[in-house]
Amino acid sequence: MLSSSVTDEWKFTEFVLAAQQESFLYDIPVVQGPAYTTVSIEQKAYVNFAGINFLGLQQDPQVLEYFTRAAYTYGLVTGGSRMTQGVSQAHRELEEMICRLTGKERTITFASGLLANLGFVHAMSSQCYMNPHCSIDNRDAIFVLDHDCHWSLWKAVERFPFGKQLFSFRHNTPAHLRELLIPLAGKKVIVIFESVYSSDGSIAPIGEILDICEEYGAISYVDDANGFLIYGPEQRPFAHEFAHLPRATFIMMSFAKSVGLEGGAIAGPHDAILAFELLSGTSLFTAAMQPPTASTAHMIIQKLQTHPHLVDTYLERAALFRQRLTEIGCTLYSSPSYITSIFVGSDSKVKCIRRAFHEQNYIIPVFHYPAVKQNQAIVRIILHAHHTEEQINAFLELLAELKKLYAF
Ligand SMILES: Cc1ncc(COP(=O)(O)O)c(C=O)c1O
Repeated sequence: MLSSSVTDEWKFTEFVLAAQQESFLYDIPVVQGPAYTTVSIEQKAYVNFAGINFLGLQQDPQVLEYFTRAAYTYGLVTGGSRMTQGVSQAHRELEEMICRLTGKERTITFASGLLANLGFVHAMSSQCYMNPHCSIDNRDAIFVLDHDCHWSLWKAVERFPFGKQLFSFRHNTPAHLRELLIPLAGKKVIVIFESVYSSDGSIAPIGEILDICEEYGAISYVDDANGFLIYGPEQRPFAHEFAHLPRATFIMMSFAKSVGLEGGAIAGPHDAILAFELLSGTSLFTAAMQPPTASTAHMIIQKLQTHPHLVDTYLERAALFRQRLTEIGCTLYSSPSYITSIFVGSDSKVKCIRRAFHEQNYIIPVFHYPAVKQNQAIVRIILHAHHTEEQINAFLELLAELKKLYAF
């Protein structure tokens, strides 16, 4: 229901009407019960291909029981920010575990990965004067981002003058990064990129990018939100690339993806991470991750370490799914990661496809302009570890039909 209000001058009503008409804005699904491979919306069951917590451990009965116990052990919340109220033992244990996993000296957790990214840029570029003996000024920091970095990273750097303190290299193109870094040699440069890009599933040439950073004296920040606990071990795809990850100065991860919960973290050099407690803002002025979530994240990470087959099997299924998509003629983005992006092209067609899936009781995520360039729309699928063969077969059948109908 739209209503005129004191915010008329902001033109929200006109914007919302247009966004609804153009199918940019639709009714947000209100899910009854947990979101899993199926979800119930208005008493109707939908097969869910829109989830990002794809390993499904958040629904494991053992994990649910553990979470409940952790809620009693640590309470639901810390009740204040990290610096004022402190953190729980659960946060500290999680942070120590991430240090061991990444080989970094210290880790700081945040309530989300997005807050970690915003906090990182803020901390790395801030000026803070406490008294004549305690101050810092990094306003001369220069940020160089891969063009396809996550919204949170672009949001964080938006105040910097482009071409002076902010540069962007073509997606996954080390040669362009090198061109940008040559004239910046000797300055305080931070190169920011992702290990696995969430819209198209592409994998960064991690080793090559880090080589260039090292050659030109730039420090590096890798957003590993999508690669965390998935890629790295040598039996997994892209092991060669991910073997370079520990060379990054900072590694960021999200607990909303493979871990299946919420929260984020940055691991890096001891004093920098300690300084972030004060300088990031997104840990000083807001609540920490909820303690039972921190404790359960720790438990799930441990489980994934001791049961690597959980991810190995998942990746095999994801690869097979990808192969079946190519067999029905889909155009996929080239990196064979577990994030599968099906190229549709037309913005209007992709909206029809989403609607057609919805009418057949499927929820699928589609990315169209402005999330991607105009008429470069995609269907972005992250297979869930527990999607059944029947669910996958029916999905592929419907997709094949729609492919013929809409000629994509
Ligand atoms: C690359 C990347 N970075 C950061 C985030 C934000 O993480 P979170 O959902 O934990 O806030 C996402 C989430 O989609 C992501 O894909």
